[in-house]
Amino acid sequence: MATELLSFRAVALAALLSLLVTHGARAQAQQQPNNATDSADRELLSYGGGWLPARATWYGAPTGAGPDDNGGACGFKHTNQYPFSSMTSCGNEPIFKDGKGCGSCYQIRCLKSNHPACSGVPQTVVITDMNYYPVAKYHFDLSGTAFGSMANYGLNDKLRHAGIIDMQFRRVPCNFPGLTINFVVQHGSNPMYLAVLVEFEDKDGDVVQVDIKEGNSYNWVPMHESWGSIWRIDPNHPLKGPFSLRITNESGKQLVANNIIPANYIPDTNYRSFIQY
Ligand SMILES: *[C@@H]1O[C@H](CO)[C@@H](O)[C@H](O)[C@H]1NC(C)=O
Ligand SMILES: *[C@@H]1O[C@H](CO)[C@@H](O)[C@H](O)[C@H]1NC(C)=O
Repeated sequence: MATELLSFRAVALAALLSLLVTHGARAQAQQQPNNATDSADRELLSYGGGWLPARATWYGAPTGAGPDDNGGACGFKHTNQYPFSSMTSCGNEPIFKDGKGCGSCYQIRCLKSNHPACSGVPQTVVITDMNYYPVAKYHFDLSGTAFGSMANYGLNDKLRHAGIIDMQFRRVPCNFPGLTINFVVQHGSNPMYLAVLVEFEDKDGDVVQVDIKEGNSYNWVPMHESWGSIWRIDPNHPLKGPFSLRITNESGKQLVANNIIPANYIPDTNYRSFIQY
């Protein structure tokens, strides 16, 4: 019963927000000077940049991780658990970057001038989902948990009631203590199609290239970004395991996980490497 009520409220809120959002998007499009984007986008890519203005909304359950299934457009699962711990967000295109932004970390904060409940204390979120209807040039559609976390102690609900606020953000390196990079073989993988999700990269939080080497080969073959954090290969011959994977971060640093996926891999299984940035 309580769950039904909650999900009804979530749906009603989502409907209300999407109204706000469509409305806001139109107003916003007229205000944005196009060329202010470039320098800000460059700053976005680098750590140690200053705070940039953004607008925040939230979705899902008030103390949830965003989507009801704890997933999202990046393909990550269990985003309510460590290391995401429900501190998750959708990014609009300059932040989501067609999936290249999946796994990136951002500090977010809001100030008293944005809303009286704001603490001003920076909190860290990970991009796990995509935002289809941006209300500003930079729009973080946060989990209820992440949105509330910007409030002073005990005022989380009050802040969530605002629904939409102005806030600030900046890119920070990810740091997932105790974790090495994890590869998840995706459902439906077979000898003529292999798809692998890559997650928990420190620093960047994402990779710009993934290459694969078959057990009987000396050649690295590029995989293609399928969607979100998932990379795939559709070979012209049946693939032979075990498979090694090589990942490249934005600075060009390559790491190799030798024979990380066995020949008799099981889809929907984690293959945890020993590598980390
Ligand atoms: C945008 O571009 C115009 C013309 O190129 C320039 O005059 C203006 O200063 C630019 N504005 C910003 C915010 O960069
Ligand atoms: C790539 O990895 C190297 C080695 O860990 C690290 O020093 C560098 O900061 C990383 N680059 C980015 C953009 O995260």
